[in-house]
Amino acid sequence: MQFNNFNSADFLRDHWQKKPLLIRNPWKKWHNPLSPDELAGLACEDHVESRLITQTSDDWNAEQGPLPETRFGELDKSPWTLLVQAVDQHVPDVATLIEPFRFIPNWRIDDVMVSYASDAGGVGPHFDHYDVFLVQGLGQRRWQVGGMCNDQTPLRSHDDLLLLADFEIVDEWVLNPGDMLYIPPGIAHNGVAVGTDCMTYSIGCRSPSRKELIGSWCDDLLPHMTDDDRYCDPDLAAQSNPGEISANAIDRLHAMVTEKLADRDEFARWFGQFSSTPRYPETDWRPEEPIEIGHLRELLTAGHPLLRNPASRFSFIRESDDRLLLFVDGDCFPCEGERIALAELLCAQNQIVVDADRIKSDGAVSLLAELYNRGGLSFDWG
Ligand code: SIN
Ligand code: CO
Repeated sequence: MQFNNFNSADFLRDHWQKKPLLIRNPWKKWHNPLSPDELAGLACEDHVESRLITQTSDDWNAEQGPLPETRFGELDKSPWTLLVQAVDQHVPDVATLIEPFRFIPNWRIDDVMVSYASDAGGVGPHFDHYDVFLVQGLGQRRWQVGGMCNDQTPLRSHDDLLLLADFEIVDEWVLNPGDMLYIPPGIAHNGVAVGTDCMTYSIGCRSPSRKELIGSWCDDLLPHMTDDDRYCDPDLAAQSNPGEISANAIDRLHAMVTEKLADRDEFARWFGQFSSTPRYPETDWRPEEPIEIGHLRELLTAGHPLLRNPASRFSFIRESDDRLLLFVDGDCFPCEGERIALAELLCAQNQIVVDADRIKSDGAVSLLAELYNRGGLSFDWG
């Protein structure tokens, strides 16, 4: 899937993280990559995250998947929506939907959620904490957008859905297949199906909260710290009031914390691993049989392209001109020499044909074999 009529530089300058944008069919040739039946099938599978939202006159009810196959036959005429997360990890044609958005760094992209709604179905007015591109796949949906929300914005009391108590419509459009709406984080929005067979693809981004960054990094640091690294004050001077925690003590205590947290190199390495950790780490994508380097060389020499696992997250951090750290699925692979250009290529393209010089290089092929045997690369993702 490719864009025909979309300027990413203009988009980043004028809209990204700033204001919504409706783009009428920007694709070279839009085709809906998944059928409603295939989506319903995914919602019945154990390892797939899904939700069914059913509506009564003015309320929404959420059921978590996996759904029993019989559930769809029980649905009555009231509007409903089926939402399936990370469909890109299971359907390669849906994964290709992400490719035109690669002007956004890999680590900022989360997944493609796909929704199917019956006539008048929707999840209700809400806001998300992340940027989202809503692509209309099939049928029509009316999107309404409102103002900026935050954690103080009043919500309806609801267990599972973060629905807005008040929603003031600022703009609205009906989207047809191929049309796309970009919504920045925090902007209220509401999508309602117009007619049956309404499918929407949400290419969702990620942006860590400060709370998540500090909490997760500290969790990672703690096991490496020792009990003998302690506050000490051999220069302690007598205090006039023993109750005072002196400014000098606070300075030293605060420095004990901030010195550790200020280690940028350590942070970078941690963040590469943290941000490349798969969304569903429990899923084992390893091949049944590990590949031998010799066999891998043969397949590469025959010109077979290597494909990135759509569920894998690939990023790198450049440490210097002659060293970078490649991160794949929460693991760090320090790369030097010929591995550097290979790591860059793997991060830039979801499919690579390895050239003859690289196939001769032990460093390059052993890296590919390691990634293959961990389930990050394959010759075929079905
Ligand atoms: C939907 O596809 O129905 C909901 C997507 C969203 O509002 O983020
Ligand atoms: Co939303």
